[in-house]
Amino acid sequence: MRTAIYPGSFDPVTCGHLDIIKRAAKLFDNLIVLVSVNPLKSTCFSPEERMDFICRVTKGIPNIQVDCDDGLLIDYFNKRNADVIVKGLRAMSDFEYEFQMALVNKDLCYKAETVFLCADVVGTFLSSSMVKQIALFGGDISSYVPHEIETDIIKGVKRLNKGNI
Ligand code: PNS
Repeated sequence: MRTAIYPGSFDPVTCGHLDIIKRAAKLFDNLIVLVSVNPLKSTCFSPEERMDFICRVTKGIPNIQVDCDDGLLIDYFNKRNADVIVKGLRAMSDFEYEFQMALVNKDLCYKAETVFLCADVVGTFLSSSMVKQIALFGGDISSYVPHEIETDIIKGVKRLNKGNI
């Protein structure tokens, strides 16, 4: 049984993330979508809200678990006895950071392989930050986020002042 972890802030999950989730779920026996709580990053949505969004949009994909962790990714990886870390790659600009993280994780734990999936066309230019900005200023996010969570994202973003995006 191959277990993969797809970690991220998911603040909030977008159609780009969902595409990676669906494709990774086909490649591995179990996929854990891990909401990372990292005090170095400020977020708009609480970990519980972020997990709830992911659960709602992945209902119907049987081999997915959604979890949350506030420690090092590699410690969680070992605790779950996982085989692979999955990351989505949008543009070459993602690559340097992701490459560095994959090497750090491999250095911390030799068996931690990172598998990169290329984003689909929409996912290539999409990010959670862009979605939040568009929503905050009243733009249409319906093509960028799963419809089940669109209204809750708009409501959540409006709680913020414009400095926290
Ligand atoms: O939203 P991101 O940047 O895709 O989140 C990915 C990651 C790994 C940075 C996130 O899972 C996280 O913050 N994890 C906790 C700290 C960690 O393990 N960082 C990687 C090694 S330095």
